[in-house]
Amino acid sequence: MADLGHVAWPPEPIRTERLVLREPEARDRTRFVELLASPEVHAYLGGPRPRDVLERELPEVPERWPGSFVVELGGVMIGHILLRRATEHRRPAAVGKADLGYLFLPTAWGHGYAAEACAAALDWFDAALPGEPVVLTTQSANVASMRLAAKLGFSEVERFHAWDAEQWLGMRPPAM
Ligand SMILES: CC(C)(COP(=O)(O)OP(=O)(O)OC[C@H]1O[C@@H](n2cnc3c(N)ncnc32)[C@H](O)[C@@H]1OP(=O)(O)O)[C@@H](O)C(=O)NCCC(=O)NCCS
Repeated sequence: MADLGHVAWPPEPIRTERLVLREPEARDRTRFVELLASPEVHAYLGGPRPRDVLERELPEVPERWPGSFVVELGGVMIGHILLRRATEHRRPAAVGKADLGYLFLPTAWGHGYAAEACAAALDWFDAALPGEPVVLTTQSANVASMRLAAKLGFSEVERFHAWDAEQWLGMRPPAM
């Protein structure tokens, strides 16, 4: 994966009904450790990383690159949205396309925050890189992620086997 390429970055913070999307800051570091060390968050993502390693090795401002959005609720980070360029992908249909990923802390699940935040990030993407589709890969067993992908307008391109599980590749057509 690479970053998105030529986009104006960072944008002004994006405000939705309940959330703010903005670039990562040093004050988010503890929440990034929580997110990346969480077994629940990584149940379908190959497992979490050890907390002590994260605490030692995460940069002072984690994940600061164009297309990386911290999602904030009431001034505190609840999730991370990743829009990257799939320069390498197992499936040819996805190679070179923008790729959406999302990770939210379990305490924030089940409130529609991920859907609200991802829709806003995709609106930003449509304005920043008009006419481009977006792809998304998730384990088909990851029911919450599959539901979210459908809500966001992704439809199935294909299923394939990788990382010891069935994967679902979805695509969202360019906005008109
Ligand atoms: C994938 C993930 C982001 C989904 O989070 P989520 O909270 O389930 O997703 P949503 O924001 O769509 O909210 C889901 C539920 O909130 C409920 N909800 C409660 N209040 C709501 C409100 N005010 N507005 C909208 N929905 C609301 C909805 O009913 C919805 O349930 P439904 O899908 O059964 O209709 C989360 O499970 C996660 O972070 N998983 C770990 C990381 C991961 O696996 N990522 C995927 C690969 S990149």
